Amino acid sequence: MLRIIGISGSLRKGSFNSSLLRAAVELRLPDLQIEPCSIRGIPLYDGDVETEGLPPEVAQLKEKIAAADGVLLVTPEYNNSIPGVFKNAIDWLSRPASDIPRVFGQRPIAMIGASPGRFGTILSQNAWLPVLRTLGTRAYFASPLYVSTASEAFDEKGNLIDQGVRDRLLKFLQGFSKFIAARG
Ligand code: FNR
Repeated sequence: MLRIIGISGSLRKGSFNSSLLRAAVELRLPDLQIEPCSIRGIPLYDGDVETEGLPPEVAQLKEKIAAADGVLLVTPEYNNSIPGVFKNAIDWLSRPASDIPRVFGQRPIAMIGASPGRFGTILSQNAWLPVLRTLGTRAYFASPLYVSTASEAFDEKGNLIDQGVRDRLLKFLQGFSKFIAARG
């Protein structure tokens, strides 16, 4: 059984991206367990705070990632790019830099995302690419998943009601599982 950490990049209660992460968890693939994680509680990055020690929320998430077989980023898109709160969280997780190889180095990582717009976070996912490269991750790029017009894909309780999106999500997770396992 592969175990991955799923991180939603939104703090919003009714977040489409958190709903998408929940839908991924609820698909319950036989060989892939997804632990949903939140960036809630991670403060704004401040080098002076870091000097005093990593905030517990950061330290805990870092260790979860370091112990996982992979990471699934579920990213919103703000102004055609990465939401600041999500980037801030990943920036914290990359500290101290000497820990990057242990936490992110060659770690299988995949991205999905949902937006009410027509392009389903394609620009945000593209904006993550230099970050994933800088952290030395092993990124999964096959069959990307962009969930557009998200207000139609989810009901008011955040349940994924679009069967087409569910099928694509399943295919994406199966592909990511194979990608992780292929590491040998
Ligand atoms: C957005 N939104 C947005 N959507 C998009 O597809 N492209 C974009 O460039 C932007 N820009 C943007 C900027 C800011 C500051 C906000 C707050 C929002 C809309 C965004 O996709 C929408 O609010 C989603 O619902 C955010 O994701 P969650 O919170 O539902 O997961």
